Formats: sequence, structure tokens, C-alpha cells
Amino acid sequence: MRTTDRLVATTNRKLLAWVDDWAGILRPDNVHWCDGSEEEYQLICKQMVASGTFIELNSEVRSNSFLARSNPDDVARVEDRTFICSETEAEAGPNNNWKAPAEMRRELLGLFAGSMSGRTMYVLPFSMGPLGSPIAHIGVQLTDSPYVVASMRIMTRMGQKALDVLGDGDFVHCVHSLGAPLLSEQEDVAWPCDPKQKYIVHFPQTREVWSYGSGYGGNALLGKKCFALRIASTMARDEGWLAEHMLIVGVTPPNGETVYLAGAFPSACGKTNMAMMVPTLPGWKVETVGDDIAWMKFGDDGRLYAINPEAGIFGVAPGTSADTNPNAIKMLKANCLFTNVALTSDGDVWWERLTSNPPPGLTDWLGNAWNPSEGTTAAHPNARFTVPASQCPTISDKWENPNGVPISAILFGGRRATTIPLVTEALNWEHGVFLGSVMSSEKTAAAAGEVGKVRRDPFAMLPFCGYNFADYFQHWLDIGATAGARPPRMFYVNWFRKDRQGRFIWPGFGDNSRVLKWVLERVAGKGEAVETPIGFLPTPGSLDTTGLDISEEDLEALLTLDKDAWHTELDLIDAHYDTFDSRLPAVLLCQLSTLRNSL
Ligand code: GTP
Ligand code: SPV
Ligand code: MN
Repeated sequence: MRTTDRLVATTNRKLLAWVDDWAGILRPDNVHWCDGSEEEYQLICKQMVASGTFIELNSEVRSNSFLARSNPDDVARVEDRTFICSETEAEAGPNNNWKAPAEMRRELLGLFAGSMSGRTMYVLPFSMGPLGSPIAHIGVQLTDSPYVVASMRIMTRMGQKALDVLGDGDFVHCVHSLGAPLLSEQEDVAWPCDPKQKYIVHFPQTREVWSYGSGYGGNALLGKKCFALRIASTMARDEGWLAEHMLIVGVTPPNGETVYLAGAFPSACGKTNMAMMVPTLPGWKVETVGDDIAWMKFGDDGRLYAINPEAGIFGVAPGTSADTNPNAIKMLKANCLFTNVALTSDGDVWWERLTSNPPPGLTDWLGNAWNPSEGTTAAHPNARFTVPASQCPTISDKWENPNGVPISAILFGGRRATTIPLVTEALNWEHGVFLGSVMSSEKTAAAAGEVGKVRRDPFAMLPFCGYNFADYFQHWLDIGATAGARPPRMFYVNWFRKDRQGRFIWPGFGDNSRVLKWVLERVAGKGEAVETPIGFLPTPGSLDTTGLDISEEDLEALLTLDKDAWHTELDLIDAHYDTFDSRLPAVLLCQLSTLRNSL
């Protein structure tokens, strides 16, 4: 006999029927509708401590916080197991894995059948975006992972309040199962999953997500990449707005007005860090609106307004320190979940570069005594923290503004040791779309696969665009041409240039404020620049380097066009564009040939 506890109130018949249907397929022992309350959160955390999924941290140093260790085969997004099941393969494009929807449904229903036996199915109603915002949307996720429940409560506005906004309306349907049914007598494990059969599947036409086998991050917290990027990007295409992998910040110069910027950098390329940057330039202030995803729509005044659809931050732990990101360190003092970081002997957390020397007696992310001489890392490179965004010391008082903030500039950026200058301004909107479409970055540990390899990652959306990139580029071109639009200016940045010894030549982090200063000056119609074939570069002296310890030679490398490297780059762009055949907007081919000719 299945039990159901539904203390929440809803009369949404479509929702009730959908939950019933899925309970019949997944066959959980219990169905629990989440109200999103603090009591419910505490209870679920307590249950996870009892079951061994959570280790409670020392409350004297980190109160109300927990550590989870995942299955070692479930540590990051799995791009090769991510599918966009649009009606046709052409709609999904060369940037996505595709399978016919009916075939995929059949295949997955086979796996979903009974996959929750012995477990509780949680029903999570959630809002992506401030409750009731005209830019927000409601989703409902079914899951058998209490870790996902706790994480979704931090990352979204979850529970009764989302049901109230939903009323009798429609929602994005999200189904998630760990794929680890629990047979009677069988002992559970700390991190159940099905590492050999993961599926992260999207049906854009019917606004559905089906996820099977993984409990980690973007694979399992379906409001984030699956809904807020892959499904939302198709909604945005259909409805004339933008769903993007972008941070949102307010930047205020000394005695100046706040200017809002959005920034698209690939996974683990600096969005969270820039979102809460402490500028090294005196008197400058950065305030956080969002650190990963932006939903943007034109307002009546023709300006592009952005909201952060998330309520929490799921950030990369390694590299986060009091030097690089002091605001994150302050933010992480309480009410956090940590996944795959190391545990100290006094019940606190540690990860690479948190402190210059690791404390003795660490337990690594696998749960073993850590021996640094073995050359392994104590934390997994994609170890993460989950924390309410409201705890960020630099959170903007506009971050939950239902109408969003007006964006004056968009930054594109990636991790490139060579070729790409520190900052380049696009010549105009079309040229900006061109730069976005040819963006590239060295792959990071945020997704399974080879780290360090340069790949094209247009608009930082390669793993997240829910349809054919060629159509997506066209959508960006159309957006800029919308009547009355006063679109933001576009810039291409690169904090990650290296010298021959493999050292970063730009200090990055708070010193990136020097680049933001130039960006704001350009937006204000000041700021000096030279026009080059790849766009406007700062003139020597126009970048504020006061107090910066950097050699003339390095600065020159950062701010000049490297023609030889760009010739090589052109060949790579050719190959990239070739994958889209005749579907690629002609405007972009024109941009490419103009660049080739002027080089
Ligand atoms: P996702 O959450 O995966 O989307 O990543 P993200 O874009 O938010 O990246 P994040 O800010 O978490 O940074 C990832 C890694 O890059 C961390 O280890 C940072 O310390 C490092 N990083 C961030 N900004 C800079 C920078 O300006 N220079 C250098 N050298 N490293 C940086
Ligand atoms: C990313 O990989 O860009 C992330 C982490 O923000 S995850 O939610 O796992 O996708
Ligand atoms: Mn991200």
C-alpha cells in the first residue's frame, strides 16, 4: 500500500493527475508533497544524517551545514548522456544529442518502471524567478532523492508558495529518479544512483524533463540547467526573450550610478567569482543579482531587463578562498550543503587552495584518510557548495525585483591561454553575436570528460541550448533588431591568458574591476579604444593599471591582436561553422569573411 502525505493545498487537476500517473509508473512506497517549510527541511536533513547521506558539520564553525559524498561515478554533468528530444533531429542541431521522442519515452519508461520502489517520491513545486514575477515560470519536480529536495529548497522558491502562484495553470514537468530501487531487506547506500545508465532528457515541445540515474548537480536539480536553460531557451525562442548562462551584477563607480552587466562564461570559468567580486580599484562596488543564469526580456523602454531565476548558489569550491573570493567565504558560514569537499579533523570542510597549506588529518572526498604525497586532491575538482543567495554579503537590493534590472553590457568570456585578448568590444550588435557564436574555452571539470581541451562554446551555452545553435544565433540577431530595442553593448573578455611557463599573466578576480571600469567608460561613450579586425581594444594607457604589478610585456600580450594566432583561430571557426551547414545565418558568414579579409 502506498501512502501519500499532502499537507499542501492545490486544486490543480492536471497536476494531481500527473503525480498520480507517475506514482503508478515509478511505484514509490510513499508520496510526499513538499510544503517548502523550514521544519520540513530540518526533518529531511536529519533523516539524511541518520541514513549516512549527510555528515553534520561542526556547528561551532559552520552551523546548520552538511557534507555529502557522492558516488565516485556521479560527480558532474554528463553531456554525452544529455538529450534534446525535439520532433526532428534538425531542430536539436549538431550541438545536441538527439533521439526521436517516442523512442526515448519507450526506452526510459522501461527504466522508470518501479524505479522508486522502497523509496519516497517527493513532489516539489517550485518557481524559477521571484514568486509572481512576469518573467518567472513554475515547474514541478518529482524525485526520490532527499538530497535533491534539500538542494532544490535552497536553489529555488519551493513549496506551497509556488503552488499558490501556479493556481490552475500549467507548469514545466520534471521527473527525476536515481534509478536505485530499494528491495526489502536490502541496505541502502549513502549516494544511490545508477552510474552505468544515466539519461538527462528534454522534450522541448511538451516542456518536459526526464532524468534518470544521477543525483548530482545539473543532472538532478532539474530547475537549473534542464529547465532554466534547456527548456527555457526554447520557450524564449518561441516568445521573443533570452534564457542565458550568465551572471548578473550591478557595478557602481565612485560617486557614480549603478550600471548592470550580464556575463556569459562557460562552466567553472568565473561567473560566481565575478558576481561577488571585491574590486581592487578604490571606491568601486560590485553587487550580486545572479551568478549562473539570466532570463532577459525587453521592457517598454526598449532596454533589456534581467532576472536571476534561481534563489541559491551552487558554486565551485576548489579555488574559493579569502584571497580570491572573500564574499563567498563569508557567505558559507552557515546553512550550506557541501558536496565532495574534504572533511577536517574538527568537523569542518576544506578544499584545494582554501588555505595555502592543507590542515593535517583531512578525510578526502571519497571518505579516506588523505595522503598528500599520493598526488590526489582532497576535494573533487567539481566539488560544490549550495547556499541561499540571500546570504551573499554583496547581494543587491534589486535581486528579487520582479521586473529585473536593466542590462547595459554583456560580457562573453572563456578560458584561453593564448589568442583571445583581455578585453575586446564588439563593433556593433551583429559583430557581438558573431563573437558570441565563436566563443571558445578550455574544458573544465564541471562536466565529465577531458579537462583542458579547447572547444567552441558559443555564448557559454554549448551544453545548455535546447535547440539548434544556428537557430539560436538567428534568435540573437532577431532580438537585437527588435523594433525600439536599445540593446546592451557587447564585450569579449579572457581572464585566463598564460605565459610559456603556464602561469596566469593577468591577476584576475578583484583586478578584473579594471576591465569593468573600461567597459563602463565605453558604455558611457568615453573610454579610448583602437579599432582592430576583431573589435575595439583598449588604447595603451586607457586600462587603469594603477598599483598593479604587471610587466609591460605581459600587458602588451593581453591587449594586442595576435595576428598569427588569429589565423589559426579562423580555421577552427571555419570548422565550427561548417557543422551548421546552410542553416547558419548568412550574416555570420559575412562577419567571418570580413574578419578574414581585414586580418
Ligand atoms: P559554474 O558554476 O560551473 O557555472 O562556474 P562559474 O562560471 O561560476 O565559475 P567560478 O566563479 O566558480 O570559478 C571557477 C574556478 O575559476 C574557480 O576555481 C575560481 O577560483 C577560478 N577563477 C574565477 N575567476 C578567476 C579569474 O579571474 N582568474 C583566475 N585565474 N581564476 C579564476
Ligand atoms: C555548470 O556546470 O555550469 C554549473 C553546475 O553551474 S551544474 O549545476 O552541475 O550544471
Ligand atoms: Mn553554470
